[in-house]
Amino acid sequence: MRSRPRRNRRTAALRGLARETRLDPGALVLPVFLHDAADEPIDAMPGCSRLGPDGLLTEVERALEVGVHAVVLFPRIPDDQKSRTGEECFNERGLIPRSVTALKERFGDELVVMTDVALDPYSSDGHDGLVDDDGRILNDETVDVLCRQALAQARAGADVIAPSDMMDGRIGAIRDTLDDEGFTEVGLLSYTAKYASAFYGPFRGALDSAPRAGDKRTYQMDPANVREALRELQLDLEEGADIVMVKPAGAYLDVISALADESDVPVAAYQVSGEYLMIKAAAASGWLDERAVALESLACIHRAGADVIFTYFARDAAAWLRSG
Ligand code: PBG
Repeated sequence: MRSRPRRNRRTAALRGLARETRLDPGALVLPVFLHDAADEPIDAMPGCSRLGPDGLLTEVERALEVGVHAVVLFPRIPDDQKSRTGEECFNERGLIPRSVTALKERFGDELVVMTDVALDPYSSDGHDGLVDDDGRILNDETVDVLCRQALAQARAGADVIAPSDMMDGRIGAIRDTLDDEGFTEVGLLSYTAKYASAFYGPFRGALDSAPRAGDKRTYQMDPANVREALRELQLDLEEGADIVMVKPAGAYLDVISALADESDVPVAAYQVSGEYLMIKAAAASGWLDERAVALESLACIHRAGADVIFTYFARDAAAWLRSG
């Protein structure tokens, strides 16, 4: 036997040389939940809290300390600020613009501040788009509102705007709006292939943003499809996306790989709330080793082709990666 694959696995140092992909904290994006109140742990997402203004700065400081340099912000909006038209989403004095400005003032270019574009946290219908009286999602009318939302975020100082709504044509429309207003340097990270997934359940609880009626299957993708993801990719690239994303991540590694083969911009993947919770719950029961499984899940998402990974493990994973 001349060929013995085990030779390259004999010691940790040899395995380090033979390693084909490496995950580093600089690839991770930490999602944070915000509200206009004191910090409060989220029951359904152990290890995560809804943060107030001070808590946000502390959380980001701790992320930067371990090498995580990017955050994406999600707001929990009180019911009395929600409406059918979701206009709170473009209030320039709203929770998200204020938080973005506070982060950029404190951390400057050391931190990439990403903002979510979609109506669900602001909509009394709990949908990412405007809903008509028959329960249909109005695509083009929604895109107009999303452009105003993106503009308010850009004015506040967001580095990267991340539309997660899955309306048709929103990347091009937002790009044009930003460019017309002089925000040519603000990036767009598109949720390109966002699936209608049951893995989002805990997130909707955290934001109180679940649909009041119906589901999201007329805009989010069918989990059975991958060719359709390539069609979305092509459109997002034509429309000017700077980064394209697949969501969820762990159960969609083939989609990440397909996009990575075709994309000439970086590919991101979102390890969503349900993926996080499956690991957390199993670890809390003593059934899985949290650190080992979390790091393995992230390494595999990276190996499949994701350059950027959104994960609720970002801070812990970065610290674990650093400690070796
Ligand atoms: C909605 C949005 C969702 C997530 C991010 N943005 C949920 C949804 O589409 O219903 C899910 C994130 C997660 O589950 O961690 N615009």
